Amino acid sequence: MLILGIETSCDDTAAAVLKENEILSNVLTSQDSIHTKFGGIVPELASRKHLQAIHPIVETALANAGIKLSDINLIAATQGPGLIGSLLVGYSYSKALSYVSKIPLVGVDHMAGHILSIFLGRDKPTFPYIALIVSGGTSSIYLAHNYNSFQLLGRTRDDAAGEAFDKVAKLLGLSYPGGPQVSEKATNGNPEYVHFPRAWLDENSLDFSFSGLKTAVLNHVHQQHRKDAELCINDICASFQEAVVEVLVTKTILAAQHNNIGTVVIGGGVSANPRLREVFTERCHKEGLFFYAPPPQYSTDNAAMIALAGFYSFKDSGPNSLDEDVYSRSQLG
Ligand code: KG4
Repeated sequence: MLILGIETSCDDTAAAVLKENEILSNVLTSQDSIHTKFGGIVPELASRKHLQAIHPIVETALANAGIKLSDINLIAATQGPGLIGSLLVGYSYSKALSYVSKIPLVGVDHMAGHILSIFLGRDKPTFPYIALIVSGGTSSIYLAHNYNSFQLLGRTRDDAAGEAFDKVAKLLGLSYPGGPQVSEKATNGNPEYVHFPRAWLDENSLDFSFSGLKTAVLNHVHQQHRKDAELCINDICASFQEAVVEVLVTKTILAAQHNNIGTVVIGGGVSANPRLREVFTERCHKEGLFFYAPPPQYSTDNAAMIALAGFYSFKDSGPNSLDEDVYSRSQLG
């Protein structure tokens, strides 16, 4: 079965062709250069850029795979969660393509894509596993029972981890998206320079909160300004990153232990963070857990993971009807 995946949930326009779970092509156009001067995504600009990019990117994905649209057996498109304007472009385009070409359409929850993105890499886990999904829009822990059943165990109560990275980067005068910038600066910084707060919330809670941490960084910056003291950007980045990583790793391992699950998987843009991968590797090894992280190109938004999740969803419950809407909050768990 050949699957065309289409992803437009946020600011990347992406398309991929999979032959079941083998990637034939995977292409993406990033809007980073457009949004960077605003320090974050401007939803209307994102929708307009998707509208320009969607058709050429699908044509490129088909050409790179060496096939024609008529060869495709299934269209899998992100139905939510995400920015509504962005989702509407990709999902409407996919509906139209499905209607005129008579190829079935399956709507995919973007979170399912991230949870299953691990299967796009070489090392594949077995079910069940605990999945930490951390991106610009979410920080959630799931128990993945199989390719189509995901149980939400914890989520952020305020900012997502990636959002915190982006906001701290903006505060420090670094460009958007902030995560890669902060993690690069952090490699030359001292993680013990400032002990920023860790929000553990209630005992055994698997929820996250990053807004207090962001405010603590802001307060530190103001304090330094008041003292006319130098801002040690690398050290602040390293200290902030260490606080985020410690909470993400500790709560994910707690989720595995409480549910008696032996495997931990990460996904989403923040999972590309080298320090997060390093600490997960060390801690999982110490706790006797298997740890899997997708190759970095499949951590961030991509259409290959949407095609893959769509393939399994279609096998389980068939196509979506063409009168369905998009949604802004994940329907999983
Ligand atoms: O999954 P993604 O590509 O898009 C969604 O938000 O859905 O994730 C983007 C987020 C941004 O907040 C970005 O700053 C963050 O992932 N990110 C990182 C790193 N690379 C991307 N955060 C920390 N460290 C990184 N290396």
